[in-house]
Amino acid sequence: MEMPQIPQPTFYIFKCEQSAPPGMPKPSCVSEQTRDLFNHMAQSMMQKGLMGPVQPIRTSCLGRCQMGPVMLVEPGHHMYVQLDKEKIDRIIDEHLIGGNPIQEYIIPEQFWGEPLSLAK
Ligand code: FES
Repeated sequence: MEMPQIPQPTFYIFKCEQSAPPGMPKPSCVSEQTRDLFNHMAQSMMQKGLMGPVQPIRTSCLGRCQMGPVMLVEPGHHMYVQLDKEKIDRIIDEHLIGGNPIQEYIIPEQFWGEPLSLAK
């Protein structure tokens, strides 16, 4: 049986959708003010014809809660922090379409750094 070819996306976007229960002192990426960011991103990408080449994925905590809302763009390990709608629009236009990550929105080096090694 011949299987149809399924092309892979150019980018995956992992958007943290974790919210903390009311009264929890720890910050989280989704609050009353930020709960529509994923839908905003998905709608913008749909309008620009990017669904397919770009696959947005809702995730739980990515471990950088103090800097939320955050999302990780792969390939490239680009972790964008303190997101709002304007930043997401710029990331779509300049990074996804234009191919230029926006350095000023990327997590500071001291909170990210080099990937951990698997070697013991
Ligand atoms: S809640 Fe989003 S990174 Fe932890």
